[in-house]
Amino acid sequence: MNVLQKVHFLKVSPMIRSARSCPARWYSSSSAAGKDETKFPKNTIEDLNTSQEQPTNGVIYDKKPFRMELQEGKRYSWCLCGRSKGQPLCDGTHKLVQYKIPHRPVRFQVEKTGTYWLCNCKQTKHRPFCDGTHKCEEVQKTSGK
Ligand code: FES
Repeated sequence: MNVLQKVHFLKVSPMIRSARSCPARWYSSSSAAGKDETKFPKNTIEDLNTSQEQPTNGVIYDKKPFRMELQEGKRYSWCLCGRSKGQPLCDGTHKLVQYKIPHRPVRFQVEKTGTYWLCNCKQTKHRPFCDGTHKCEEVQKTSGK
């Protein structure tokens, strides 16, 4: 991250760093998966690209996840920058030079066709899936949706 990107990042999302220290939790305690991290949905192409490894998170788009039907074998691009108008998926807004956005979308596929909860707060540690981080005080107290 260059100096210009760092300044932009701090200006648009001052609380992002503290949100990273929130413990991972599921969005619902009644989830069959419980708190076992091995039960998080798997991004089957996680090892094929580096978009998963970006060190910072985008701005908070919403304080709750988005439920979405996903098809096995289909490739999706999850918005990490938080500025897409087609949330939770990328619409290319991160490419607009005037925003100087350092983030790229996270490419992903799911193992099975089904309903998934995708992160909309952009602070999850299990991109692109919701891990309950949106329940952290740092996320909930921000002004946003
Ligand atoms: S919406 Fe749940 S972790 Fe982001």
